[in-house]
Amino acid sequence: MTDPRHRKIRSFVLRKGRLTTAQQHALDELWPFYGIDNAETRLDFDDHFERKADVIVEIGFGNGESTWQMAQHEADKNFIGIEVHEPGVGHLLMALEEHGIENVRIACEDAVVFLEQRIEPGSLAGVRIYFADPWPKKRHHKRRLIQPEFVSLLARCTASGGILHLATDWQPYAEHMLEVMQSSPDFVNLSPTGDYCEQPDWRPSTKYEKRGQRLGHEVRDLLFRRS
Ligand SMILES: C[S@@+](CC[C@H](N)C(=O)[O-])C[C@H]1O[C@@H](n2cnc3c(N)ncnc32)[C@H](O)[C@@H]1O
Repeated sequence: MTDPRHRKIRSFVLRKGRLTTAQQHALDELWPFYGIDNAETRLDFDDHFERKADVIVEIGFGNGESTWQMAQHEADKNFIGIEVHEPGVGHLLMALEEHGIENVRIACEDAVVFLEQRIEPGSLAGVRIYFADPWPKKRHHKRRLIQPEFVSLLARCTASGGILHLATDWQPYAEHMLEVMQSSPDFVNLSPTGDYCEQPDWRPSTKYEKRGQRLGHEVRDLLFRRS
């Protein structure tokens, strides 16, 4: 296992986005219920959710629009959203309260560290990563989240039969994702054409997706099953 303290290349740059008063209020009031405080020990899902259900992790939820909508639509599942950008966390907390959603918990830290330290092997029913930063410049490609080492980590965390769902509006990144995923011995492509899938109706459209579509980008969904 990589020692996270020595991991230098990250998939994000922490922007100093300012919290609105409402977001700060949500963090103060709602974090104790929805938040997963940083720690280095394995998480006990039952402690956090107070019920047994399949756990789905969403990585890099941005403002969390997809997170609360999926949690509302798939009320029989438990969701853990991971995001490093605090204003996004505040935004999601407000939405969870507004819509009365209780099957979501939030971690505000690097998903790589979170998965390495906190997730019991084989304990996730699925992982969803929508519109991960594409890092289009060649010299930044090493920052892309979807890399063989990270996919091995996802494989370690996911139960057999669990589903990994990726979406992107950046065609070169879609091709890179496909190549990395096809080379993984741990995942099987669910695409009938051996490449991309139709967008499942349960994936809500996201802020970054809409932005991509305004720019005329085609959106690609990739669905793989943990073998
Ligand atoms: C391009 S945005 C997409 C946000 C959202 N999924 C959407 O589609 O609107 C990518 C998000 O991933 C987050 N992110 C990138 N790397 C991350 C990591 N290692 N751990 C947690 N969040 C990460 C960024 O902060 C950013 O909010």
